[in-house]
Amino acid sequence: MRMTAFEISNFARYQRIAPFYDLLDLPFEYGRYRKIRPQLFAGLSGLILDAGVGTGRNFPFYPAGARIVGIDLSPAMLARAARRRRSSAAAIDLVEMDVTRIALPDRHFDAAVATFLFCVLPDELQAPALRELKRVTKPGGVIRLLEYTRPRAALRRAVTRLWEPWVRWAYGAGFDRRTEEHVPEAGLRLVQSRFVLRDLIKIIEARSAE
Ligand SMILES: C[S@@+](CC[C@H](N)C(=O)[O-])C[C@H]1O[C@@H](n2cnc3c(N)ncnc32)[C@H](O)[C@@H]1O
Repeated sequence: MRMTAFEISNFARYQRIAPFYDLLDLPFEYGRYRKIRPQLFAGLSGLILDAGVGTGRNFPFYPAGARIVGIDLSPAMLARAARRRRSSAAAIDLVEMDVTRIALPDRHFDAAVATFLFCVLPDELQAPALRELKRVTKPGGVIRLLEYTRPRAALRRAVTRLWEPWVRWAYGAGFDRRTEEHVPEAGLRLVQSRFVLRDLIKIIEARSAE
């Protein structure tokens, strides 16, 4: 299957960074993310898609009894996730797959989540990725994203500007993604968008518009 230039660079980037990913992210994982990840799974059950599953940092927070399909572009990230399976109360399948071309049937999942995936997708892939999440989720099913944004407060905004070149080089990520603006374009309805860490990280929730 043909990849776009961006996907090749993101693929190469995560293949390269996989051995160091957890170490690099450690201060953020324990200082920030662990407190907010559980909110993403509140009220979810059944068959759940975790898109851009990475090294499996969401595993401890999956609802007990749920069945999870974790997809990721990078086999090296998935290999690390596979080692973390035992940290979860849910049954987990891991599959190498691109979120913009999910090789699974329509209406397959009860819900879909993605944590820090849309901040690594460029603008032109935001709507295609959202459309795929919509297609594979049952009508009325929840789609929840945990994402960075550029803060409004002047000091934090300046700090993100300082970090940005590193974050872009290492993770392919940006603070300037306009994911919510693509929600209607993908045939989804924005249900909520709320900050869960200062004005820096938010949960975006959408459902099928029909
Ligand atoms: C910043 S990491 C986040 C990992 C994990 N969700 C977490 O919360 O720690 C982004 C992940 O998205 C994956 N990714 C990037 N582009 C993707 C795509 N088009 N389809 C699927 N996964 C992708 C990367 O390989 C990487 O594992």
